[in-house]
Amino acid sequence: AQSVKTAQKLLGFKAVPKSRADSVLVPAGYTASVIYALGDPLSADIPAYKNDGTDMDFDKRAGDHHDGMEWFGLDANGQPSTSATTRGLLAMNHEATTDEKLSSFFIHADGGTSTLPRPAVEVDKELAIHGLSFVEVRSERGQWRTIQNSPLNRRVTQLTPVEISGPARGHALMVTKYSPNGTKTRGTLNNCGTGSTPWGTMLSGEENWYGYFNRSANDDAARGDKSVIALNRYGRKQGEASRHGWESAGTDDKYVRWNNSKIGSSVDGSDDYRNEMNTFGYIVEVDPYNPTRMVKKRTGLGRFAHESAAYSIPKARQPLRFYMGDDARNEYIYKWVTKELWNPADATAADRLAIGDKYLDHGTLYVAKFDASGRGEWIELTMDNPTVANYSKYKFADQADICVNARLAADAVGATKMDRPEWNGVHPVTGEVYFTLTNNSNRTINPDPEKKAQLMPDAANPRAYTDMKKDKAQTGNPNGHILRLRENGGRGKPTFTWDVYLFGAEAIADAKSINLSGLTEDQDFSSPDGIAFSRRTGLCWIQTDDGAYTDASNCMMLAAIPGRVGDGEKVTLNHTKADGTVVPVTTFVGKKPTDMSLKRFLVGPKDCEITGFCETPDGKTIFVNIQHPGEGTKQADIADPSKYTSQWPANAGYGAGKRPRSATIVITKNDGGVIGS
Ligand code: FEO
Ligand code: CA
Ligand code: CA
Ligand code: CA
Repeated sequence: AQSVKTAQKLLGFKAVPKSRADSVLVPAGYTASVIYALGDPLSADIPAYKNDGTDMDFDKRAGDHHDGMEWFGLDANGQPSTSATTRGLLAMNHEATTDEKLSSFFIHADGGTSTLPRPAVEVDKELAIHGLSFVEVRSERGQWRTIQNSPLNRRVTQLTPVEISGPARGHALMVTKYSPNGTKTRGTLNNCGTGSTPWGTMLSGEENWYGYFNRSANDDAARGDKSVIALNRYGRKQGEASRHGWESAGTDDKYVRWNNSKIGSSVDGSDDYRNEMNTFGYIVEVDPYNPTRMVKKRTGLGRFAHESAAYSIPKARQPLRFYMGDDARNEYIYKWVTKELWNPADATAADRLAIGDKYLDHGTLYVAKFDASGRGEWIELTMDNPTVANYSKYKFADQADICVNARLAADAVGATKMDRPEWNGVHPVTGEVYFTLTNNSNRTINPDPEKKAQLMPDAANPRAYTDMKKDKAQTGNPNGHILRLRENGGRGKPTFTWDVYLFGAEAIADAKSINLSGLTEDQDFSSPDGIAFSRRTGLCWIQTDDGAYTDASNCMMLAAIPGRVGDGEKVTLNHTKADGTVVPVTTFVGKKPTDMSLKRFLVGPKDCEITGFCETPDGKTIFVNIQHPGEGTKQADIADPSKYTSQWPANAGYGAGKRPRSATIVITKNDGGVIGS
């Protein structure tokens, strides 16, 4: 059982005001320092980062767009430790790059090439800055730093061999020239949220992977309708350009693989990369303590735009549950329930990935359906469910096909289309699951019949309005909300009870239709994305990735003490359609926060997103990622630093050059107290 203990009063700090400064702000009494930025060396023989576009060796440097992040403690001998507080590994996602017109311009001297074919030398760097990194960190006399020559430092890039695991391993859908038996691929891509496991491994979610691939408009129709249905359902059309044009850089497999057209003459795809896209879109598992072990893609947990995967409070002789969101407009919330019952002895097993095989390759995938009464149902996505097996729009071959095309299976059962499910976190005491729903421009009270994606509000996604900012009138649900659910347990169909913990809103917005949680100036936020609970203090940390409220503040992180599902009230929103008809939508709003249950803790530099949270087990050190500062910079302005929209972290005294860099910051309290007190 988990316990949350703290002697100090939580949320005792003074809230940080909203800010548009190009700096990181934390409350008085706290210190935030940069420790690990794009390009920092991970090996003794790699030179310091010059940050002028001439650096090479990115497979031995920190990648770009630091995102989800987990802490793995090390004892004085460098061995795994669940109690270590001054030495550990940070396991990190490098989601994407700051790019414009194909090029990741900040890593190329002149901003890079925006026409096809892309130069191989540029693409090689771009392949390397995506993926994962593992870096040892230590605190000596209160100062945290990375250890450049640690044998545990590691990079996973788009060239790293990765194992396919679970139901789709060895399946016809996974056959490629690289792996004719469908058991391997290379790399993990657009990794966004993270998670950990009770047995000490890292989980990483592959999010917007589909945009990196290209399939020609005239691709061989003999591949059959199913692959086209799948391609379209994952947001891609034949003939659509890829994000970076990697497939254009040469004839080497490392470039050609991004072209998913049928080029070869084989029946099964073993002489080309027509199936390559099926090897991305998963939760991947890594043993950070053992760099010699291959990363595994856990296909049983479904293929979609993954964010985090948070596990239920482990209870002996009961199944474990992993919760997951699919972050795209109108997509779904999922959970994985293990077949094996939790054995606490597995928490300390030496072969961690073998334990992962046990819990993550055998189990059942479910999708959530919310109803208007404040309850919901988990629907099984298996061939045993006739609604899936007999789906008229896509004939599933087997369970592997369901996993690879999980979105289509969820469509079949009529799951609830959500306002972009991002991270989720499990409350360490109540076990309730908190999901951020970041925003949804396709939620509207006046759906255009021509636009099938536009949806009316419903109980779990109840808001649709026009953002008050006249300069960028965003419609739909521009500010997002945080939904939470409690498993009902018992026999029969698995069900849950839910409410909306918080609605993102501007403090000045109308309290009856928009600012339903009554947020004040010290609390208001928009577009929640990262969410994680401290296992030490129980605090809920909420991070934003906002486009709606950035005229008032850069992205931020808030600390919260949430209540419980059902602690608030039923509220009816009276939406008015264009023709004047009033459409009531009833929802369930959690108890309004007070100034001692929700406070802004951090505001980041310009054009950044705040994401990734991990802590030492004593709760006295936290690590947070500042993702893509200066993202709004134009490629054409690469030679003029005065035109960069951010110069962080150079302007905070970190590193050479003025090009903005994604980076990890470490936060401690000056009096040595727990973070958030
Ligand atoms: Fe990478 Fe859904 O945020
Ligand atoms: Ca995210
Ligand atoms: Ca986001
Ligand atoms: Ca981002």
